[in-house]
Amino acid sequence: MRRLRICSLGIAGLLVTGDLAHSYAKQRNTAAKPVVGSAPITKLRAARQSPSDLEVGGELAGLPLGVTRYITREDLLALPQVSYTVADDSNFTSPTKITGVSLEELTRSLGAAPQSDMVVAICDDKYHANYPRDYAAAHHPLLVLTVDGKPPSGWPKSSDGQSYDMGPYMISHPKFTPSFKTLSHSDEPQIPWGVVRIELRDENAVFGAIAPREPRAATPVVKAGFRIAQQNCFRCHNMGREGGQKSGTPWLVLSAWARASPEYFAAYVRNPQTKNPHAQMPGTPGYDDATIAALTAYFRTFVSPGAGSTWSPPRKGKP
Ligand code: HEC
Repeated sequence: MRRLRICSLGIAGLLVTGDLAHSYAKQRNTAAKPVVGSAPITKLRAARQSPSDLEVGGELAGLPLGVTRYITREDLLALPQVSYTVADDSNFTSPTKITGVSLEELTRSLGAAPQSDMVVAICDDKYHANYPRDYAAAHHPLLVLTVDGKPPSGWPKSSDGQSYDMGPYMISHPKFTPSFKTLSHSDEPQIPWGVVRIELRDENAVFGAIAPREPRAATPVVKAGFRIAQQNCFRCHNMGREGGQKSGTPWLVLSAWARASPEYFAAYVRNPQTKNPHAQMPGTPGYDDATIAALTAYFRTFVSPGAGSTWSPPRKGKP
């Protein structure tokens, strides 16, 4: 489904082992919040020691905002594991046994409470998969460590025709039943592979970056567009430092298109190849007119009404 650029991860020089997690795991133990299973003791390391280390960042307990730490695969395997046979994950062609750590467990073990209430999984192609609190509660996503008992080297290749490695990490669910529907957008499984980094974040800060602008922010149509854009477009399109950068096209460029040429915007969302034969963006032909109208109205809140007449979006990638 997602096409990935394969990049080799640099191995950072010296290994410095931090035992920071140890101290807060102990603190958590004495907290009033119930701890499921045994209290995990996870080493967060200050430097990468292996390409299979998972980067972690965001709001980490006991650490200043913005630092990056690393967890080894072995340390992840030492956390409480969950195991399921999944039959509805499109990354697998038949029922598959997966084992790993639940994202809720990772948040509990590593996140700074209470502000860190969502997980953002980042892939090596800068695609972002977002797991807000409601999504995690409804679907219990897990960071997959083994597939049919095997480490990433034994995983099936991606089924998008490209045959890429799906490691070092991927995310799946025990079973996915959509938990909301907004116009013609149904809650979609967030099942990235090629995950290299996990950020524990404050949902208000992440989605706040793309909150619709006044004066139309509170209208139902704009709110519906916001809901859809935060689950769909935000995976590949960024607003400043928030959101995926896979597309290379920032939020305000989409907004400019929605204002200057709603026809181009609509056609690109439904079927990008009609506007750009080289488009890599997956289309959503199932979005009906009301859904497109909601997205257009939402994106237009970022650009003042006069802007469309004086500014034309760049015509890149066109013949
Ligand atoms: C899986 C990644 C992905 C998702 C999700 C995605 N896009 Fe894109 N988008 C791209 C890429 C990559 C491009 C750059 C051109 C191309 O390859 O199609 C792009 C380009 C565009 C463009 C054209 C910009 C230009 O300057 O010509 C528009 C408009 C656009 N996206 C709107 C959207 C909207 C609205 C959503 C959500 C409904 C969305 N995209 C979701 C990947 C994505």
